[in-house]
Amino acid sequence: HPFDVVVVGSANADLVVRVERHPAPGETVLGSELAVHPGGKGANQAVAAARLGARVALLGRVGADQHGRLLRESLEHDGVDHGHLHDTPAASGIAMIAVGPQGDNSIIVAPGANARVTEGDVLQAAPLLRSAPVVSLQLEIPLPAVLAAARLARRAVVNLSPAAPVPDELLALCDPLVVNEHEAALLLGVPGEADRQAKSLLALGPRSVVITLGADGAVVAEDGAVHAVPSPRVAAVDTTGAGDAFTGALAWRLAVGEPLTAAAAFAARVGAAAVRRPGAQDSYPTMAEVEDL
Ligand code: RIB
Ligand code: NA
Repeated sequence: HPFDVVVVGSANADLVVRVERHPAPGETVLGSELAVHPGGKGANQAVAAARLGARVALLGRVGADQHGRLLRESLEHDGVDHGHLHDTPAASGIAMIAVGPQGDNSIIVAPGANARVTEGDVLQAAPLLRSAPVVSLQLEIPLPAVLAAARLARRAVVNLSPAAPVPDELLALCDPLVVNEHEAALLLGVPGEADRQAKSLLALGPRSVVITLGADGAVVAEDGAVHAVPSPRVAAVDTTGAGDAFTGALAWRLAVGEPLTAAAAFAARVGAAAVRRPGAQDSYPTMAEVEDL
């Protein structure tokens, strides 16, 4: 097979301003100068895996504009195949990101071209999706496209982010379902301790579950058993896209046949490495940097 991982998903230009604190509704705060970084959960997963050495293709849509060119350049730089990233008569997706002093962020996405990804786009690439050991997905493109990709995948790694209600059919195809604590609470309707949440999520139908816990690593639930996975301690500069780095790395390790808990432990190291630098894709580590951590 030509690709280890096929990512179907979003690409956004991230418009980032650092702030002393996040504005409350009705409030204006002054921030840093604007930085523009390549981002979007789909493109982030793709670059994260490729930078580690995976062979990756990204299917999605960008505008034929300056942001679209920035996004293609970033993919090109890490050798991600973008032959199925279609130029679209719409603005490229953008994300307005405020980053606080702790590296914490709040994000508003204007989907633009990402909203035009269709089930037809996915079906047209059916041979590509079927050929890869893993297809990696998120929820920044329309659900029919995500569902079509999950149906075609030999194994679908699904980051249910941003959290949204999804049909049982999609949940049943997730192997694993990847969420953070907030997304887990939204899906289950109640907050709770990570081990319990992971078991409750497993009961919703996915073949396996990973809950990412930031600096506390992750928990993995599979076959009724729950395993904790640690994270190395790092000083957080910008956590934007750390979850995407985790998921992209996880998808690759699963594609090369690693068991889920070991793959998640590796992915946690990649996520930790990514929070040490500003931006999403721009901050993702090489294999040598992960080994050094
Ligand atoms: O997960 C981080 C990403 O979310 C950012 O790169 C931004 O584009 C939004 O999609
Ligand atoms: Na980062």
